[in-house]
Amino acid sequence: MSNAVVPAIINVDVEGPLISRHLYGHFAEHLGRCIYGGFYVGEDSDLPNAGGIRLDVVEALRALNIPNLRWPGGCFADEYHWMDGIGPKDQRPAMVNTHWGNVEENNHFGTHEFMALCELLGAEPYISGNVGSGTVKEMSDWVEYLTRDGDSPMVRLRKANGREEPWQLRFWGLGNEAWGCGGNMTAQHYADEARRYGTYCRDHGDNRLYRIAAGANTDDYAWTETLMKTLGDLGCAYRPQPFYQALSLHYYTIPGTWQDKGDATVFGTDDYYATMVKAARIDELLTGHSNVMDCYDPGKTVGLVLDEWGTWWNVEPGTNPGFLYQQNTLRDALVAGLHFDVFHRHSDRLVMANIAQTVNVLQAMILTDPDSGALVLTPTYHVFEMNKGHHDAASLRVDIPSGVPTRQVGEQTLATVSVSASRKDGKVLVSLSNLDAAEPVDVELDLRGGTVTGARSRILTAEKLQSHNTPETPDAVAPRAHEQVTATATGLRVHLPAHSFVTVEARLA
Ligand code: AHR
Repeated sequence: MSNAVVPAIINVDVEGPLISRHLYGHFAEHLGRCIYGGFYVGEDSDLPNAGGIRLDVVEALRALNIPNLRWPGGCFADEYHWMDGIGPKDQRPAMVNTHWGNVEENNHFGTHEFMALCELLGAEPYISGNVGSGTVKEMSDWVEYLTRDGDSPMVRLRKANGREEPWQLRFWGLGNEAWGCGGNMTAQHYADEARRYGTYCRDHGDNRLYRIAAGANTDDYAWTETLMKTLGDLGCAYRPQPFYQALSLHYYTIPGTWQDKGDATVFGTDDYYATMVKAARIDELLTGHSNVMDCYDPGKTVGLVLDEWGTWWNVEPGTNPGFLYQQNTLRDALVAGLHFDVFHRHSDRLVMANIAQTVNVLQAMILTDPDSGALVLTPTYHVFEMNKGHHDAASLRVDIPSGVPTRQVGEQTLATVSVSASRKDGKVLVSLSNLDAAEPVDVELDLRGGTVTGARSRILTAEKLQSHNTPETPDAVAPRAHEQVTATATGLRVHLPAHSFVTVEARLA
């Protein structure tokens, strides 16, 4: 029996908004083994390191062209006092990480270590300042310490700690989840605080901060509206405001309940489809928050930053519940692929997105063994790698005139085929997902406005949705060349096996 054929039209000569590379951003919190053991092992470690930073992790992330890294939280950001994390390590005061496992934080990984990590990665730093338990002066001093040149109290302190030149720093978060762990504030109270904190986070010299206000959770559109209103009258011609230039949004894919989120590797087909329905909701949410922002800012000058997204499962059995360590299967990879298709379609408003989190926490790129230190790349890592051609490419609209195949999941309808495309350097990159757990499908790409001279395709799939990588089987889910792509009179026909993610790079004449 032949499988379904879905026609998809792409006008390769009609370029849409640029897909910022920052949609492929990352997040590293002082949480569980993300920083300690994940990124940072200390200078005395047997693992190859530079100033304590794991070089195998750096190498793996550089291969993704990691564009930015958010730090130090998350919830941790609003109880972090940056001055405790500078100077000689043996003199740095310790603290208790009350959000994450009640463990002691020795502050050995601080500002200098984070900025060194970003330099090694070639990634832009994104620092979240402390609004919840900090002060305006503390945040303002941190910005001065990082970005001011010449001579000033904070500059002298930085120089005394071994850094002569200021760093270039753009992305600055004004707290995190102010509606919850970041201070349990009301929307209006926080919005006023964001204006105040944003005001004193100065642009020193030629450094220009891009201040990101702590935005809404999921579908809290009222929060977004309050932040937009409080930004003030943007008028017809946008007058740059000094307080905040963007708002964030957090959305996690949690198919179960908050108490029982579901298992990362032991799940059935129904659980899988429920997950995909939850993941697909990101489109509704980005549309909703963008619509609210459009009312106040039709020129789209204020950015939307989804600085926490990804799957959230029950922790792996036997691990600290406060460490949020979870495995990562082909299902997680398909969630990522689906998110990126949606991100590409929203690239007129969505300027950044950060998966939570990069190493050993939630939907990670990399898992490291706590005993041997062995590093494993997750299926999600491979989606980031396969999609990196979309970074800073022009988005291309994909039309599916017959409509996409769907599946009924309870009362929800899940589109089981997802496609997005972009153009850069004379090449078109098309990402395609078949979310159906059992049925293959063919997508016939009708590429109009250009002549295809060649194509290269890769596929990420596995026998089972539950397949995942371990130190013993590191390549159980890994990309391979995909041969089932054939030329047609108008473009390319791409075969998508059940539960697969495929990229096709087509060269144009
Ligand atoms: O990523 C884990 C936590 O999820 C973050 O610290 C917090 O911002 C969110 O609730």
